[in-house]
Amino acid sequence: MGRIRILSDQVANQIAAGEVVDRPASVVKELLENSLDAGAQRVRVEVEAGGRRLIRISDDGHGMNRDDALLAFERHATSKLRTADDLLSISTLGFRGEALPSIASVARVTLETATGEDPAGTRMEIAGGKILHVDDAALPRGTTIAVADLFFNTPARRKFLRAESTELAHVTALVTHYALVHPEMHFELLSATHTIVSAPPVARTAERIYQIFGKDTLAQLLPVAAELPLARAGLPAPPPWKVDPDEPLRDPGALRLTGFYSKPELQKLNRNSIYIFVNKRLIRDRLLLHAITEAYRNVIPPTSFPVVLLFLEMPPEEVDVNVHPAKTEVRFRQQGLIHDFVRDSLRTALVKARPAAGFLAALDASPAASPSLMPPATSPLPGSPDSEPFAQPDSDPAEFAAPRADAAPFQLTPRLPSPVPGKLPFTAQNFNHPGGWGDQKAWGEAAAALFQPSTLPPAGDCSPNLADLANANPAAETAQVEAEQAAANLNHLGSLRPLGQLRESFILATGEDGLWIIDQHVAHERVLFEKILRDRQVEKVQRQRLLMPMLVELKPWQMIVFARIAEELELNGFEVEPFGPQTLAVKAAPVGLEGAALERMLTEVIEQSSSDSEEPKQNEDLAAMRTRIAASIACHSAIKINTPLDPVRMEWLLLELAKTSHPTSCPHGRPIALLYSWKEIQRAFHRI
Ligand SMILES: Nc1ncnc2c1ncn2[C@@H]1O[C@H](COP(=O)(O)OP(=O)(O)OP(=O)(O)O)[C@@H](O)[C@H]1O
Ligand SMILES: [Mg+2]
Repeated sequence: MGRIRILSDQVANQIAAGEVVDRPASVVKELLENSLDAGAQRVRVEVEAGGRRLIRISDDGHGMNRDDALLAFERHATSKLRTADDLLSISTLGFRGEALPSIASVARVTLETATGEDPAGTRMEIAGGKILHVDDAALPRGTTIAVADLFFNTPARRKFLRAESTELAHVTALVTHYALVHPEMHFELLSATHTIVSAPPVARTAERIYQIFGKDTLAQLLPVAAELPLARAGLPAPPPWKVDPDEPLRDPGALRLTGFYSKPELQKLNRNSIYIFVNKRLIRDRLLLHAITEAYRNVIPPTSFPVVLLFLEMPPEEVDVNVHPAKTEVRFRQQGLIHDFVRDSLRTALVKARPAAGFLAALDASPAASPSLMPPATSPLPGSPDSEPFAQPDSDPAEFAAPRADAAPFQLTPRLPSPVPGKLPFTAQNFNHPGGWGDQKAWGEAAAALFQPSTLPPAGDCSPNLADLANANPAAETAQVEAEQAAANLNHLGSLRPLGQLRESFILATGEDGLWIIDQHVAHERVLFEKILRDRQVEKVQRQRLLMPMLVELKPWQMIVFARIAEELELNGFEVEPFGPQTLAVKAAPVGLEGAALERMLTEVIEQSSSDSEEPKQNEDLAAMRTRIAASIACHSAIKINTPLDPVRMEWLLLELAKTSHPTSCPHGRPIALLYSWKEIQRAFHRI
């Protein structure tokens, strides 16, 4: 007798469930997606015990008749696909016909559904994949699916479930994602004891962000929108015998991008606050993550990540969604094009907006402490082995279960900036102005009062909680936030009036918007950095001959690294020759770089380049090396802190800074100019 046997449907479904359903949030994902595909306008999700005991999702979509309801739990039963060709242009979220049978094989499921057209609706009970009852029932149009006792018959799976609060956080993240992408719908998420998300329909995504995360988060995000007509379709042209000569040539369509991106001052420690939706499907994608990090290169530190909500729309033929059982990954048919479109659209938006960093936000802007758009523990996509998009798919499940080092306690209401302990050293004697300050003492005290945390408005004023949100008027509030955002940009830098320096390190300046504090070192660094890159492109970097060649000792491995970057250094104004086996002789260097700073710069670049791959493989690596060298030269030649500057120099620096494309942050990502806005000043003095 042969050894091979065909598996029973029940076992096959449980195997499929292993891929598709790994925790309550993945059940919620599948059921929510079904509701969206059914054209629902309102979805209500209820969970008990983090979804382990019960998940119930009700929608007002088109529902199913009795025959369809019975079929829905069969394997490979779907209303969304007919032929293999349909796979090339999927416009629904589901298409595999696997979710319901998989879920029903590992839980006790009750389905209630009605089309609103048939005389009666259908009520069905299924446990462990077996249909227990099917009855007629009087029901309103729509579908309710209750999933109880998840994994009751697969104890091994149950063991991998995490604490209730963690599972609930994953479910919350998921509902939140879908609420963001469908502002026109009504979403509710309820636990046994309270309402977690309540989001009635709104007109725009900005209002939805406000509804869910509050005003503070919205204020730190900027909108982006771009469109690119496609020159050709991503699918290969059909063979000549399949082409109908009478059919007009099809328009290849366009790529459309909308969304929100964070100001450089808002930085995160990981990629968990980057949300990418392709044709309204939430996905994880390395290519687009890379494009986003590229857009922020030299604007935020390389170890930080922005907050980005990206909604990409493209013809369904442009994207293959059939690459992952949980449908969380996709493959683009014109990868390079999409990558560059996202990178360039974001970068252009950043350059154009030139957002000014608020003083208070910047105080709180260390990556770890920035307000959480999403609780980190909730961010992994269900179905993906880890939140880390670059994690190996076969990563150790034990590791998966281990708490993340950066996991913060779950919270949905936006966090307030944490109070700043102590006083800032902002007193009269710290001011230094060549022309004199008038009444220095009074000025100093007023400034000191401004920066006292106790003068901040009471918490309730700036952090609406979710209950209040239901009554608030989001449109009016978002309009106000947007107006404040529009006002606070760096376009006015060039017209600021410098007042003097603070500790010979920071320039204080006034303008229409309020009081500005500019870090003179990083401001100059940004100016030089962009100049070096510009000059480097036309090979016009100014170099100066050193009176005496400077000798730099290197270790043997550093000599190897040097050989690799020598050409790029030369293009940046260096003239360096080996002088003995372990010594370099620097004969010329870019203008402004000399002495100890020159030596430090060279060793720094060699140090950083040593982690690069042997041969710069792609343009990517070359570009990274180029900007790193430019950043290093800029940093070491820029005006230092503790350097007195006269008013003419201060004005010059502000003017030059205004001309740069990213006056927001230095090439290493530190903020350059902070604005204490007129509004904040008035608020702090209780004038508004
Ligand atoms: N909430 C719902 N409202 C109306 N019809 C539904 C609903 N949920 C499921 N269905 C029907 O049941 C079918 C099976 O659902 P199921 O989720 O198993 O597969 P699918 O959505 O087609 O594909 P996938 O496995 O990729 O999710 C769907 O094709 C749809 O016709
Ligand atoms: Mg489905």
